[in-house]
Amino acid sequence: MNNTDRYAVAGNPVAHSRSPDIHARFAAQTGQALVYERLLCPLDGFEASIRRFAAEGGRGCNVTVPFKFEAHALAVRLSPRAALAGAVNTLRFDGEGWFGDNTDGAGLVRDIEHNAARPLAHKRALLLGAGGASAGVLGSLIAARPAELVIANRSVDKAQALVDSHRALAEQQGVRLRACALDDCGAAYDVLINGTSASLAGAGVPVAAAALVPGALALDMMYGPAARPFLDWARAQGAEARDGLGMLVEQAAEAFELWRGVKPDTAPVLAALRTEVDALP
Ligand code: ATR
Repeated sequence: MNNTDRYAVAGNPVAHSRSPDIHARFAAQTGQALVYERLLCPLDGFEASIRRFAAEGGRGCNVTVPFKFEAHALAVRLSPRAALAGAVNTLRFDGEGWFGDNTDGAGLVRDIEHNAARPLAHKRALLLGAGGASAGVLGSLIAARPAELVIANRSVDKAQALVDSHRALAEQQGVRLRACALDDCGAAYDVLINGTSASLAGAGVPVAAAALVPGALALDMMYGPAARPFLDWARAQGAEARDGLGMLVEQAAEAFELWRGVKPDTAPVLAALRTEVDALP
């Protein structure tokens, strides 16, 4: 092996991950010499796989399903946002121990506020789901200071647990944060974010159309065929529909900056991926 810096996306599955493509484009654009690969980890072998990768010259990795919580436990140091999320999507293998960060929320907020040009401050936002995807982005959503942020989930106790763990931040930021059931979440939100995996289960959109104001932004954190039922539903309600591709590229850019100290231009990369994803059957 030559001494080119190595990075990877670690998960199970990883075959369909677009991260290698995104980071190769970032590296070419910024003139950084690195290789970025896929690291398929056995479900009971995440730590061993990562340790081997680091020993073989890996400098860091992205972490995806289902290992974000395990990565959080393995990091010796955590960014404040990763500590709050309880999950890590980016590891940097520092000599003094692994540093864990979570760039998902910053990626989501950057996509909403910059790419979709929808500032969140003073708006009413509804987040669907209280699993790992929602937990990973909640702190960044609060930091964007919407007037109100409601977490609706099938199991209300999980939404309430997220409210409890983020209460102090919400109070500090002046955000009204509360939990509710999917069929009792109020109406007329400016921004709706789907962080559930309902579509993977073949279920419909788990919230009523009244949740949206006319012209609301409705964003699914997924992209490709999995996001289509939600996007079709959102358009049928007159909302601006947005998938998770922008969030994916933006969270990758944050990770790239953490590793390399240089922030890539996301716009041309997102445009290239958009063409590829829209061509999927
Ligand atoms: P992820 O890491 O992708 O967030 P997860 O932690 O399993 O995955 O969370 C999945 C989320 O989708 C949860 O909020 C789940 O609701 P519950 O907490 O009640 O299980 C939600 N979800 C999954 N299938 C759903 C469905 N058919 N209708 C509504 N919500 C659903």
